[in-house]
Amino acid sequence: MTEQSPALDNLLTESRTFPPSETFSAQANATADFYAEADADREAFWAKQAERLHWETKWSQVLDWTNAPVAKWFVGGKLNVAYNCVDRHVADGHGEQVAIHWVGEPGDSRDITYAQLKDEVSKAANAFESLGLTAGDRVAIQMPMVPEAIVAMLACARIGAMHSVVFGGFSPTALRSRVDDAAAKVVITTDGQYRRGKAAPMKVNVDEALEGAESVEKVIVVRRTGDEVPLTEGRDVWWHDLVDGQSAEHAPQAFDSEHPLFILYTSGTTGKPKGILHTSGGYLTQAAYTHHNVFDHKAGEDVYWCTADIGWITGHSYIVYGPLANRATQVVYEGTPNPPHEGRHWEIVQQHKVSIYYTAPTLIRTFMKWGNEIPEKYDLSSLRVLGSVGEPINPEAWMWYREHVGANSAPIVDTWWQTETGGIMISPLPGVTSTKPGSAQKALPGISAKVVDDQGVEVGKGGGGYLVLDKPWPGMLRGIWGDEQRFRETYWSRFADQGYYFAGDGAKYDADGDIWLLGRVDDVMNVSGHRISTTEVESALVSHPTVAEAAVVGATDPTTGQGIVAFVILRGNAVDGGEQAVQELRNHVAKEIGPIAKPRQILVVQELPKTRSGKIMRRLLRDVAENRQVGDVTTLADSSVMDLISSGLKTGK
Ligand code: PRX
Repeated sequence: MTEQSPALDNLLTESRTFPPSETFSAQANATADFYAEADADREAFWAKQAERLHWETKWSQVLDWTNAPVAKWFVGGKLNVAYNCVDRHVADGHGEQVAIHWVGEPGDSRDITYAQLKDEVSKAANAFESLGLTAGDRVAIQMPMVPEAIVAMLACARIGAMHSVVFGGFSPTALRSRVDDAAAKVVITTDGQYRRGKAAPMKVNVDEALEGAESVEKVIVVRRTGDEVPLTEGRDVWWHDLVDGQSAEHAPQAFDSEHPLFILYTSGTTGKPKGILHTSGGYLTQAAYTHHNVFDHKAGEDVYWCTADIGWITGHSYIVYGPLANRATQVVYEGTPNPPHEGRHWEIVQQHKVSIYYTAPTLIRTFMKWGNEIPEKYDLSSLRVLGSVGEPINPEAWMWYREHVGANSAPIVDTWWQTETGGIMISPLPGVTSTKPGSAQKALPGISAKVVDDQGVEVGKGGGGYLVLDKPWPGMLRGIWGDEQRFRETYWSRFADQGYYFAGDGAKYDADGDIWLLGRVDDVMNVSGHRISTTEVESALVSHPTVAEAAVVGATDPTTGQGIVAFVILRGNAVDGGEQAVQELRNHVAKEIGPIAKPRQILVVQELPKTRSGKIMRRLLRDVAENRQVGDVTTLADSSVMDLISSGLKTGK
């Protein structure tokens, strides 16, 4: 069963609610009757949502679930995703509307209209085709948040090639394993990137990653920092040399609704990341529907800003596909939140009159730490909807967000979803739901979620258990790239009898039947809203020559949600586990996976607690990492181990 931290327990005693204001409700996109409408006929409801897109050929069937768990949505329908996100807005007379207010970290900026975006995407599509890329090919993209990253994704979609975006902070090793797994033909990157006020290299890391990578034929390099980078003859080409001279005319071809759109790798419970596969029509329908209703987005009026990185699913669905399908004007910001000062986000909100702001609890907690006086210096009166995503938001952070960012009036939508779900699944609807600090509350109209016990039986009000999705939804993953068995095992075997999708999250109903998310129940950590598997970090640690064994746990952290704490046993001949050795191990993990996976703390121990079958009991290690009394040790093969660990830590050995 789920192991709850004290902080999460506190969430459940929350009793404040905030009903929507009448003025907000009167203008809201969503209405309360959506729920009943969707319940009455889910497929008809989704068909109606799909009508917000332009279909070259209409579907003949809304859902085909006969080959479950692989769904087909809008069967027989044909559309071009990029056309839907760009061209049709120009065709509808909105070519002059700004699609992207791009803000570079060092202070440079670019405004890109829909007409310009159409030209850029068309040129890039022509360029990609000139390299021989065709529908179904894979393109890996490791780039910072520059407009070309979005253009590249849309150009892939336009020609039916699949993108696999790899977060810019991932190491060469991590990039390489993703490039190999998908057999990417083309890799797109930049010379460097601005991070925390400094230019950092990118292309050289890509070069390191691609050494001997057999599938890769071309590397396209966007100039960003201007740093000199070596180009490999015959393989590497500058974006500006390849793209700028292309024709801005490109006829978009309509692809099947189930044509693959992208792969996005995410951490699972083993060391190997899973390539989550999403397809076109259903995914785009859900991204657009949720963006429209959950954020109450009004095309041509709102200025929307999602602070995620395109390296994560939030960036895919709520920077690229959802907002652009809905003709949003949005801010895209390149950098970290505090160069050159801690008011950077609020300055951008004020300057662009941002009305919808979507971010992660970890950042909200950071803002809280920086102080109330920082947002107070700016005019944030344009903000009318605030969103949260990535991890449970504690009521304190929720209240701070409401008070100091939302002027005690903007509705807050706490959106639960996953890479696998493609779009938002559980969330309040602004203007409809009375919100509660800390709860994602209800499955959206058209979505069905339940909290069940070990046997798959739904628990009652006040009960806790596992979160499942009991009915197919349009944006659902269609598989794990190249590993159908893992797809079935990971998501569909836990509640196979009932046919439920197992999300991997613990959850609870409160007395009103609202859902509270309680964090992962598997070996996946959530650090600053990023999913990292304990096994991945353990593998990185044991790949270091001094480490014999490692066990990693996610310990509650006041800012990042969870922090990575590693317990390592050094090899017999390794020198002591002093500060320097620990530092080296932390850096080693950063090098193997990326800085986001760097353990907050590494504790050198003599033994690890294991069950008789040899399974590490992370629960006990979490007790140690969170300075709690160690729990039940009766299933340990050797129950004195915990004493040894605790006393070793006290004496610093
Ligand atoms: O544990 C849940 C947590 O993030 C996981 C999904 O991570 P990822 O695929 O990287 O996608 C993150 C952005 C959608 C979930 O299994 N999670 C996400 N949103 C919330 C959340 N936990 C609680 N509340 C949320 N709003």
